[in-house]
Amino acid sequence: MVMSKSKKGLPNKSDSTKTNQAWGGRFNEPVDDFVARFTASVNFDQRLYQHDIQGSIAHASMLSKIGVLSATEANEIVVGLQAIASDIESGHFDWSIALEDVHMNIESALTARIGSVGKKLHTGRSRNDQVATDIRLWLRDEIDVISVLLSALQKGMIELASAESGTIMPGFTHLQTAQPVTFGHHLLAWNEMLERDFGRLQDCRKRLNQCPLGAAALAGTSYPIDREYTAAQLAFDKASENSLDSVSDRDFAIEFCAFASILLTHMSRMSEELILWTSAQFQFIELPDRFCTGSSIMPQKKNPDVPELVRGKTGRVNGHLIALLTLMKSQPLAYNKDNQEDKEPLFDTVDTVRDCLRAFSDMVPAIQANKIAMYEAAKRGFSTATDLADYLVGKGVAFRDAHEIVGKSVAYGIAENKDLSDMTVGELSVFSKLIKDDVFSVLTLEGSVAARNHIGGTAPQQVKAAAQRALKKIANR
Ligand code: ARG
Repeated sequence: MVMSKSKKGLPNKSDSTKTNQAWGGRFNEPVDDFVARFTASVNFDQRLYQHDIQGSIAHASMLSKIGVLSATEANEIVVGLQAIASDIESGHFDWSIALEDVHMNIESALTARIGSVGKKLHTGRSRNDQVATDIRLWLRDEIDVISVLLSALQKGMIELASAESGTIMPGFTHLQTAQPVTFGHHLLAWNEMLERDFGRLQDCRKRLNQCPLGAAALAGTSYPIDREYTAAQLAFDKASENSLDSVSDRDFAIEFCAFASILLTHMSRMSEELILWTSAQFQFIELPDRFCTGSSIMPQKKNPDVPELVRGKTGRVNGHLIALLTLMKSQPLAYNKDNQEDKEPLFDTVDTVRDCLRAFSDMVPAIQANKIAMYEAAKRGFSTATDLADYLVGKGVAFRDAHEIVGKSVAYGIAENKDLSDMTVGELSVFSKLIKDDVFSVLTLEGSVAARNHIGGTAPQQVKAAAQRALKKIANR
């Protein structure tokens, strides 16, 4: 493209009127139309408008506190910004691509509304510290919403666990029947995953909660700003430490996406189990029809779409985490335009997490356990074989020998199509003379689960107590 500079390098007047008002001073021609669209972020970062205005109000009141703005000027700015917020809320705001991003759209609207005093707002700050502040403020609010959603899901899950504390199902390792457990115990295992996720989310919030405002473009500002005041206005714990780091750091977004990836990985594992359990082969649970859809060709189908989609969305959230890590991995200090690419992955991660949590909080408490099918399945896989070995150990047999004896009894059971608890003492004592009538109290599924009566064990009594403890933790948040 031919530069439209006039002779002697003086600005071409007609072109300079079309350049961006915020930074057009040194430019001699307007930005190319495609480049304007390519570099603009307003289509997606307008989502930050409330937090942008919140940050600007805090900045203006700090400028007035240190005497850079008069009280009247600051007040005009604040009132103007509040009016812009309500215009945006009610849909009466024209976002302009030419003004690039949410920050310049709002600043330009402010000046249009209140006159040249609006041009003073940007004193002592840059869009670099402004955007770093906006995303933190926005994400902090989202974290608080997500914390509530996550707690609600946990509460529903724990209550179901308590109600199902005595429901026996097979526990699996390698997806082979291992030992009987209670359904309540299984649900509380899920809750532990979510409990760690909640902790990770709070850790992310703690590290995020520092105010970058004042870092300005990268080096700080020559005005006598009061950074602690601005930080306090915005309910940050403190002002961030280093100006270069403040404008370039996006760790908080990565940490949030890492939290989301782990959460979705957990929810995907839960989904996988729900999908298996609703199948005709397991029939362990029934999901209410409202969480499922049918097939347009196979009339008998009831598909577990909600857990399937949650499992699928894990891929997209993992993708966003990788996108942000890759975005940051080679950036020199301090701010680079690359950082504009942080928003869409972060926004979509937040939306996806919110939707998945909402779907699960509605669905999990509505899971109907098919107790008979679970019980029958637990009986089928010789799930009390370990209990028989433990019984023999109690009678003085070494565990390895007991293991061998029980292995032979199981082989017999497979050949005769009988569970251990279906055999007579006569049949069992063929394998060890030590097996007597009292064996049946350990061979039943009920006896097996009741025996695991310690913290973290599957005994119904322990599950009930664990559920109470878990509920208490949530109530104390
Ligand atoms: N829209 C930009 C972003 O999202 C705002 C900061 C622009 N700063 C700059 N020096 N161009 O990162």
